[in-house]
Amino acid sequence: MFDHQFIEVEVKEKIAHIRLNRPKVLNALNRKMIHEIVHTMEAMDRDDNVKVILLYGNGKAFAAGADIGEMAEDTAVNLEVLNQFADWDRLAQVKKPIIGAVHGFALGGGFELALVCDLLFAAEDVKFGFPEINLAVMPGAGGTQRLTKLMGKTKALEWLWSGEMMSAQEALQYRIINHTFPKEIVIDETIKYARKLAEMPSLSVRFIKEAVYKAVDYSLYEGMQYERKNFSLLFATEDQKEGMKAFLEKRRPNFKGQ
Ligand code: HXC
Repeated sequence: MFDHQFIEVEVKEKIAHIRLNRPKVLNALNRKMIHEIVHTMEAMDRDDNVKVILLYGNGKAFAAGADIGEMAEDTAVNLEVLNQFADWDRLAQVKKPIIGAVHGFALGGGFELALVCDLLFAAEDVKFGFPEINLAVMPGAGGTQRLTKLMGKTKALEWLWSGEMMSAQEALQYRIINHTFPKEIVIDETIKYARKLAEMPSLSVRFIKEAVYKAVDYSLYEGMQYERKNFSLLFATEDQKEGMKAFLEKRRPNFKGQ
């Protein structure tokens, strides 16, 4: 267990568990907390004992947004000087899989944090939303961009302008989340999936992640060029030799992540 002020971190069986831990304020994200999350994700990305990173919230919510108390007196100038969004950019550079298990509320910055996750497993009670408009602001950590890429501009505008919350069922329908589970088992189900993913050849996992995100941003042609390079590169790994040899010898492969 590592010591932090606003998060808990634990590594068990190749899986890093990052738990948002300000339950009294529904895990409202202050800047130090975001910094701790980013710093920890980067450390986990470098740690050979970790194959998958899980992110979830202690208490009644995943996260009810950025800390409004901290933000209330901000000015445009101090926001520029703080450059806090650089931390959010770093989250998108993490190479290992990040799986979010969300429950309660995932609002504003909390929703944006969920959208940074590669996969989302959600409790049936979860409510997603961008209530920023009710505070006369707007999402600032990727919300307008990532939501639009997932659901298209027409639906994204409707949600962002309404500030209303969407249910797990709606989030499923708009391809924001992967699965829903009863609240009591969502973490266990996420861990179950993470265990399987942790056993996969890690360089394939990593290169697939990179290539899929290129599909979001690149043209089809450029994305395919990128995919091809990663495909070839995997033939430089020991795991590729082992995977194909094991198939031909009709045995289980023993992957080493190299
Ligand atoms: C600071 C927050 C908070 C937040 C909740 N709390 N959300 N504090 N920032 N975002 C605090 C409450 O003030 C309260 O503290 C305690 O958590 C419990 O919340 P309640 O409101 O009493 O709970 P409930 O009645 O169940 O209502 C839950 C809720 C509501 C609907 C989620 O708390 C709410 O509307 N929160 C704000 C949601 C929001 O606007 N998020 C977007 C923020 S802007 P006390 O001390 O009174 O017990 C944003 C911009 C991102 O995220 C920009 C990029 C980073």
